Amino acid sequence: MKVRKAVIPAAGLGTRMLPATKTIPKEMLPMVDKPVIQYIIEEAVASGIEDILVVTNRAKSAMDDYFDYHPELEERLLKNGKFKEAEAVRMSADLANIFYVRQKETKGLGHAIWRAKRFVGDEPFAVLLGDDIMMANKPVTKQLVDAAEKYGACAVGTQLVADEAISRYSSLKIQPLPHEDRIFRVSDMNEKPTPEEKFSNYAILGRYVLTSGIFDILEHTPPGYGGEIQLTDGLRTLCKQSPMVAVDFEGRRYDTGNLKGFLEATIDFALTDGEIGPWLRDFIIDKAKGL
Ligand code: G1P
Repeated sequence: MKVRKAVIPAAGLGTRMLPATKTIPKEMLPMVDKPVIQYIIEEAVASGIEDILVVTNRAKSAMDDYFDYHPELEERLLKNGKFKEAEAVRMSADLANIFYVRQKETKGLGHAIWRAKRFVGDEPFAVLLGDDIMMANKPVTKQLVDAAEKYGACAVGTQLVADEAISRYSSLKIQPLPHEDRIFRVSDMNEKPTPEEKFSNYAILGRYVLTSGIFDILEHTPPGYGGEIQLTDGLRTLCKQSPMVAVDFEGRRYDTGNLKGFLEATIDFALTDGEIGPWLRDFIIDKAKGL
């Protein structure tokens, strides 16, 4: 099972980050010096993905502009000796083969993924949710790809979340696998469960490796939580038809779709940045002294 393709759903309205996202796609908000979606694309590329489909909507054309060349800007930067900046501008356009399809109606994550049917064909593919940014030594998508290949199975990324948080995610029913600490077999799941409904505190956190079998299932999946077609409902059927594993991935996950997660990610990524990191560390220490 070689995973060469990825799908990034990025058609959400960004209502948790208003007013900034009134005219700027939430995926284009700058985190340190790059838009959020670039972190996702870089993770996919570092995991061996070659072709990426971004599912967008009519308000998101800034994204395809960003991953295009900008000849006038590059020429000006080179003329002024700003070689590093010119390279950064060019690099973002050369990261991967990026394709776009629009989700014409806001009908949920399952519907957005279904829009990838033609792009994916019969190959296995990764899904990376645009809000979930990961900081990990080994890219989280690569951790899933390796587990999917090892078990000839679909894979979902998971971590334990607090009791009060599980109702914001999907909850997994899992069983141990021999000789594995971090990989489990998945037998069921549900989306945004109440405390009584949850299977466990293992939540799916924004990363998946799936087979094309999901598309036929999604086509017949009725609207679920929030009146939307939920990917989780499709996966619930899929995990009963073919093997699926959950990978308790190593790394930290940030929900950049809300302000607190966005700030945490911004600070953590800035702290690890060779140039800005040491300055930010001193700045924070100084500030903390005054608190
Ligand atoms: C989506 C998925 C949910 C998953 C979560 C992870 O929910 O539907 O199963 O646990 O992402 O971030 P959303 O954040 O769109 O409500």
